[in-house]
Amino acid sequence: MSLILGIESTAHTFGIAVVKNGKVLSNVRDMYTTESGGIIPTESAKHHERVKEELYKKAIAEGKIQEKDIDAIAISQGPGLAPCLLIGMRFAKELSKKLNVPIVPVNHCVAHLEIGKITGAKDPVLLYTSGANTQIIAYASGKYRIFGETLDLGVGNFIDTFGRYAGLGFPAGQRIQELASKSKNYIELPYKVKGMDIALSGILTNLKQKLESRKYPIEDLCFSLQETVFTMLVETAERALAHTGKKELLLGGGVACNSRLQEMCKIMCAERGAKFFCPERQFLVDNAGMIAFLGEIEFNSGIKVSGKEIEKLDIKPRERTDNVEVKWK
Ligand code: FE2
Repeated sequence: MSLILGIESTAHTFGIAVVKNGKVLSNVRDMYTTESGGIIPTESAKHHERVKEELYKKAIAEGKIQEKDIDAIAISQGPGLAPCLLIGMRFAKELSKKLNVPIVPVNHCVAHLEIGKITGAKDPVLLYTSGANTQIIAYASGKYRIFGETLDLGVGNFIDTFGRYAGLGFPAGQRIQELASKSKNYIELPYKVKGMDIALSGILTNLKQKLESRKYPIEDLCFSLQETVFTMLVETAERALAHTGKKELLLGGGVACNSRLQEMCKIMCAERGAKFFCPERQFLVDNAGMIAFLGEIEFNSGIKVSGKEIEKLDIKPRERTDNVEVKWK
């Protein structure tokens, strides 16, 4: 029986959540957005600083809990943008001192995978598609391993950068999906799959050139972007399923909110007799619910930082999924 408060602050989202016995009691978040341009890390950090207290109070109230009942603070330690991570880490340390409870460090990418348990997935291959991250992750021989990943841009950043060229605002995923749904006209784009890895920068350059030529309707470009890049993701995810022999595919990350990507994954899974799992939106996007959820699993297996050790605890902006020591399995 433990009550864990989780904090998420790796990039544009600041979130706080409360989890008790594997149940998410509250999961609140606020996102830094811009009219034009992408994330400016220091601006995003200022946003987090501004909203943290209010979200903390909201998470406590919505979770119907009392501060004094919190057993530990779980913090998203990395990977992510350093200025943003620092706000979360400082807040975690403040709370840990105030409440006299330990801190549980959590890897953000692994949290995307572990929260899949809420949907019923037991041992899935995770297709994790967000702004900065595009990875195919699965547990094998004592570690979470990256079977495939992008060799350059994260698919979310790729989509947002194209959106920026096309003047669609940030984040652009939803607008692109809307525009894509109005077209069925496929324009050929480069297709870059290397084993279980993908590359996106060449496709971005190609799309930019097509946009600048003014020869193609934006709807057709958005449609072709989705069909090409999502096929690349589905192909590599299928290869990971075949390679690992696993029978479950789980989606994670903000790009997984795209219903066309979900549909394509569903079809692939049906064709090869695998089960498809897609968490509800609040657990797909960056959120503190998954941080508190994995935090509780870690805490229950004895992973925690307390006393003087807390001072030494630092963010890990570049932590790789396969560097995480999995002591809770
Ligand atoms: Fe994420």
